[in-house]
Amino acid sequence: KKAGIDVVTLNVFNWALLQRDETTYDFSLLDETVDRVSENGMKICMATSTAALPAWMAKKYPDVLRTDFEGRKRNFGYRHNACPNSPTFRKYSPLLAKKLAERYKDRKNIVAWHISNEYGGFCYCENCLKAFRVWLKNKYKTLDNLNYEWNSAFWSHTFYDWDEIVFPNALSENFENEAQTVFQGAALDYKRFNSDSIMQNYIDEYDAVRSVIPDVPITTNFMPFFNDLDYHKWAKHMDMVSWDNYPERDIEPAKIAYRHDTFRGMKSGKSFMLMEQTPSWVNWMEVNGSKKPGVMRLWSYQAVAHGADTVMFFQLRMSRGSNEKFHGAVIDHSGRDDTRVFKECSELGAELKKLGSATLGGRTPARAALIFDWNTRWALEASAGPSKRLDYVEELYKYYKAFYELDIPLDIIPMDEDLSGYDLVVAPMLYMMKDGIENSLEAFVKRGGKLILTYMSGYTDENDLIIMGGYPGPLKSIAGVWVEEKDILREDEHNSFEYKGVKYTADIVCDIMHPEGAEVISTYDESFYAGTPVITKNKFGEGACYYVGTSGSTEFINELVCDVAREAGIKNCLGEEPDSAKASATLEMTRRNSDEGDFLFVLNHGDETDFEITCDGDDLLSTDSFKKGDRVKMDKVGVRIIKLQK
Ligand code: GAL
Repeated sequence: KKAGIDVVTLNVFNWALLQRDETTYDFSLLDETVDRVSENGMKICMATSTAALPAWMAKKYPDVLRTDFEGRKRNFGYRHNACPNSPTFRKYSPLLAKKLAERYKDRKNIVAWHISNEYGGFCYCENCLKAFRVWLKNKYKTLDNLNYEWNSAFWSHTFYDWDEIVFPNALSENFENEAQTVFQGAALDYKRFNSDSIMQNYIDEYDAVRSVIPDVPITTNFMPFFNDLDYHKWAKHMDMVSWDNYPERDIEPAKIAYRHDTFRGMKSGKSFMLMEQTPSWVNWMEVNGSKKPGVMRLWSYQAVAHGADTVMFFQLRMSRGSNEKFHGAVIDHSGRDDTRVFKECSELGAELKKLGSATLGGRTPARAALIFDWNTRWALEASAGPSKRLDYVEELYKYYKAFYELDIPLDIIPMDEDLSGYDLVVAPMLYMMKDGIENSLEAFVKRGGKLILTYMSGYTDENDLIIMGGYPGPLKSIAGVWVEEKDILREDEHNSFEYKGVKYTADIVCDIMHPEGAEVISTYDESFYAGTPVITKNKFGEGACYYVGTSGSTEFINELVCDVAREAGIKNCLGEEPDSAKASATLEMTRRNSDEGDFLFVLNHGDETDFEITCDGDDLLSTDSFKKGDRVKMDKVGVRIIKLQK
């Protein structure tokens, strides 16, 4: 209370204390805690406790235990440890969720339900295998279809009976690492199946809570770019997205922003919850440094700047034993409130109280979007060739960063998002064609949109079958190029090209292509394909598509994005034309517009001292007011939330 905390998450890993056998439940400790929290005027985010199994259940019902990638049945232990297709787990986890909902349904201070915790992992047990075959039958209907889509005639894999199908794991199709298998169609389907299975566990509990409580929002906490689960699919079943922000040491601030924006994009720009962050340090990195003074505040506001409506911590108190005894907390082992960390938490608490509801529900007025797709990422990772250096998340980050540095509001959207609100869409490495993406992109460009595509685009259908007839497949007509082959570069190899008189490096992949209607903007300098196009622009309908045939440097991408954004008529957060000469990697700006006004967030991650404001406004975190043209002073780790006057 002293730290200004007004909502607490309770009951995350509490199953064994709540239930000692099949029929005996004991809520007394939780009742006591709920009472204490409520009497102190705080709100509750109530978790369902099912993210770690009780030992008695594992002993008595071994079907709850997972089987790993190597085919080994796991013993009891760890957390996030339930087999998603275990009949026992599917019986007892929603039952507990329902009992909790029934017990606490009249507590009006429960403002959110938090199902399980950070779902993830894989299971390869017999129950899952049976369920996998059913999942495949539902998807493909006939074995002929499956054999075709998996291209199973290759290496004599044709299946004549559904029961011949096994998991693509270490005992079968595995090739080098867990992501890579020799049958990418099977690997992709397994990942989809596993994600769906675990999602069903979430839905089981969601439905259990919802059957008792009609209106309180229900969520589960996500992790950044988490590979195991297709979060876009999951988000459709959530009332509000929430996620846990634990940035690595020395991370670029743009990378944290990139994560926030993916989560905001999961529900078409609706605000999300920052469910967890450490007030100080974590315990699970190699070297766990503390957040320096002011950084926790800065990163908390960064979350708000990108769409968070809550700022929450893990954890309140440092525990007295086990794995997280050295994990930071609002209250450390000393139990004192005169620590730096406690003071910083209290100051933030007081400030957020003052800020009140101003930014809540605020939307980011983005007219540019970046397409991110989990299945595309999985497929690229599962494929043998063309290069292990392909990195979907990192390649997209380069484009993201350009928008970040240019202070252009950007949404990160799934493939099936409606593009009608955007003027500029960037879809790097759009390898997999699904959700009718080629049609929505065509319609988008035809009506005047500007599109940026890159190498490794238009290759496969949703089952990783190559779309025959030349790359970039169905995107050929929008891009106006045909990619005949690619030069694949080692880390120490580069090509280069010029853009607006400056030389830039070409890295990882160099598409060797022929313009088929597109205008050539730049050509390669070297190798047997010197003089052939690397950057093209194709006028298509009222709009245009840029094709970047290589992995360009950040400097080049900044220039290109700036030019295309200008062409698309997109303004930065200050309402000005973007200008690459003014780009900053450390002075971050975002916008959120809520019912209470339009807000400009300015966050100083570096050494910048000021910037020029382009309209009148009042800082909500201080008493400062500004007139158009004023230089706004920025402290180190400083934050401004400026309410703009129209
Ligand atoms: C999260 C998890 C918490 C805690 C925290 C430590 O991933 O949800 O329970 O373990 O990490 O950083």
